[in-house]
Amino acid sequence: MARVDLSGVTKRYGAQTVLDDVSCAFPEGSFTALLGPSGSGKTTLLRIVAGFVRPDAGRVEIGGRDVTGTPVWARDIGLVFQSYALFPHMTVAENVAFGLRQRGMSRAAALAEAARALAMVRLPDLGARLPRALSGGQQQRVALARAIAYRPSVLLLDEPLSALDRRLRQEMQAELRRIQRDSGLTTIFVTHDQEEALTMADSVAILNGGRIVQAGPPRSLYDRPRTRFAATFLGETNILEGVVAGGRARLACGTAIAVPDPLPAEGRAVALSVRPEAMQLGPPVREGDNCLAARVTAVTFAGAVQTLEAETAAGLRLRMLATTSGAAPPEPGASVLLTWPPGRTVLLED
Ligand SMILES: Nc1ncnc2c1ncn2[C@@H]1O[C@H](COP(=O)(O)OP(=O)(O)OP(=O)(O)O)[C@@H](O)[C@H]1O
Ligand SMILES: [Mg+2]
Repeated sequence: MARVDLSGVTKRYGAQTVLDDVSCAFPEGSFTALLGPSGSGKTTLLRIVAGFVRPDAGRVEIGGRDVTGTPVWARDIGLVFQSYALFPHMTVAENVAFGLRQRGMSRAAALAEAARALAMVRLPDLGARLPRALSGGQQQRVALARAIAYRPSVLLLDEPLSALDRRLRQEMQAELRRIQRDSGLTTIFVTHDQEEALTMADSVAILNGGRIVQAGPPRSLYDRPRTRFAATFLGETNILEGVVAGGRARLACGTAIAVPDPLPAEGRAVALSVRPEAMQLGPPVREGDNCLAARVTAVTFAGAVQTLEAETAAGLRLRMLATTSGAAPPEPGASVLLTWPPGRTVLLED
């Protein structure tokens, strides 16, 4: 198992800077989710770690060793790309054993290792089948077995679960986490799915326009987004814009919002983020709670939770989330108070 370190990694294609001075540490045995919009550079970053793409500037280290100029095959990395291309004419066991054979292992030993890897992904009995006789989820697991069969020290996964339906995806998320914990593999996992990133990863790095805009444990990223982009990309949020007045943020409707973070100078514009689930219906129960009056515009039932949309007199749209177990929600058109503690208000940098 080995740590991965990127420092100052930059990649350009023509005039486009696809990765812009990216520095990031992936500690030994950690599971990091790379999250970002399409085209933000996630796959390029993985390809640079794997060695398929050479950065224009910067350094890649694996296990403390500079591998920037090291070819793919000498990097000790397991890979699962989005299209998990198995060799169609080889059996499952041969597919998994392929990399080991390439590394010079005898056929018998390689097949024994392949059986071990297939047991790890819970497909012990399918070694003799051809890939086309497997379901999508099973093929995905074979691709994973192939990536871990030769016991790499780093595992790179590029949206490995995107082809699966929700149920299978959740099962595979748990499997993948188990395999990663059991093997202690340093794992970098690209996903489009923010919920997947939050539930699976020890650490989440958000990429935008070729830069890591914020990285950290899921909880801290969710609770303390630094920018508007990070706040809205990682879950739903309410963005409140105002002006600093009397040590508070005064919104257009005139309501002053208490913010725990130090505010900039009087008169400066500020943006705040408040998660929908931080808000409650009704007047403040604690002294000092923030509160906005609004009119309900929609209530959407989604099983365990419901979303309530409301609008203030000044036209600010708000969303709050409530469980469906309590009292019946107000009807559209009803006047409500939305209340939240100052501690759930996050001052954004931009
Ligand atoms: N070989 C290449 N030549 C030219 N441009 C490229 C090449 N590879 C990637 N790009 C460009 O670099 C940018 C980042 O691509 P990348 O594949 O890393 O994005 P991504 O974050 O993985 O996106 P997605 O979520 O859609 O997979 C895109 O604008 C893409 O068009
Ligand atoms: Mg990609």
